[in-house]
Amino acid sequence: MENFTFRNTTKIIFGRGTESKVGIETVKYGKKVLLHYGGGSIKKYGLYERVLKSLKDAGMEVIELGGVQPNPRLSLVKKGIDMCRREKVDIILAVGGGSVIDSAKTIASGVPYNGDVWDFFAGKAELKEIIPVGVVLTIPASGSESSNSSVVTNENGMYKKGFTSELLRPEFAILNPENTFTLPQYQTACGSTDMMAHIMERYFTTVKNVELTDRLCEAALKTVINNTPEALREPKNYAARAEIMYAGTIAHNGSLGTGRIGDWAPHKIEMEISGIYDLAHGAGLAIIFPAWMKYVYKNNIERFSQFAFRVWGVEPDFNNIIKTALAGIERLENFYREIGMPVTLKEASIPYDRFEEMAEKCTEMGPVGNFVKLGMNDVLKILEIAK
Ligand code: NZQ
Ligand code: ZN
Repeated sequence: MENFTFRNTTKIIFGRGTESKVGIETVKYGKKVLLHYGGGSIKKYGLYERVLKSLKDAGMEVIELGGVQPNPRLSLVKKGIDMCRREKVDIILAVGGGSVIDSAKTIASGVPYNGDVWDFFAGKAELKEIIPVGVVLTIPASGSESSNSSVVTNENGMYKKGFTSELLRPEFAILNPENTFTLPQYQTACGSTDMMAHIMERYFTTVKNVELTDRLCEAALKTVINNTPEALREPKNYAARAEIMYAGTIAHNGSLGTGRIGDWAPHKIEMEISGIYDLAHGAGLAIIFPAWMKYVYKNNIERFSQFAFRVWGVEPDFNNIIKTALAGIERLENFYREIGMPVTLKEASIPYDRFEEMAEKCTEMGPVGNFVKLGMNDVLKILEIAK
């Protein structure tokens, strides 16, 4: 196990009806809030009214900025920064999923910064100060509700990039599984795929003697695998939605990565796809993760057979460990198919003509991944496998 320091500062408030507490949580950070949301689902399903009432009851002054698109755009972030400065906003409340939360986090980073907020993503500046962010989560997926990162797309070149800082962890996150009952099947499946990827990025490590976190990762994966088909069959099944929602937070709050070195190449490769083609991040991961696995599994067949056996119940074949490892990858792919995810670029209607550009952008800051370091040619080969 590697040395580590771990602190997750986000207060998690979980359960039925918990959005009624948003006012008392928000008012702790000041009197004026920017209510930030997406394309309209919160208004359609009544969450907007409940949040607004709670904020008003707590005496908050509310200004609003809606319209965050999936794969959130830098232009709206800049509009939000201007609004917050002009209106002297004390706290930003993100009501939505990863896209709304990341847009909020980036606005919050830009408000006190005396330069272009894209500097943080381009590695030209380090985040020193941020205004507080609170969250009411509506889709379990990104883990952004308590993660230390933010991912935004710069329309100038369709660059989708992330940056990391401990200051990016929201102050609080309200998680009511009932607010996820209205999720379309596709978004439910994308969410589960994303959280599974967050766990697997940490699971596939070269660090030895990490039994506790191995087993925590396996438990979290199995919980998502057991409950996702249930939530798809019965969208208002509270028990299934609750397990998935909590798993999404645990998957990316940092605890499963303690003492380990995660990989993150599949995420970096996927960002090129959702950045250019505006595909949902989860769907992109269902395509890239198995392709990455097929490319790297030989570097640590034991770890891949452990994954096959412990997560998928594949009977180990000690005379043919490769067969066991490959069976685990196949089971993962079959699961993605079962929940309605594409597993090839073709199935997602992604053309093959920009592979070079994607591989180049993905590796422009150097090789990606830690399980195996991948250069531009390796990324090209993975994209070929993903066809
Ligand atoms: O915009 P609205 O109308 O709200 O609709 C959204 C959106 O179309 C809809 N939706 C959300 N909650 C709903 C709902 N529809 C009905 N009922 C509800 N309760 O779902 C759609 C997708 O929303 P989005 O926020 O884009 O989904 P997700 O949470 O998957 O976020 C994806 C973004 O997060 C980034 C991804 O790259 C992507 O840009 N990530 C952020 C991370 C982080 N900051 O730590 C880590 C992740 O790896 C990921 O990269
Ligand atoms: Zn992700």
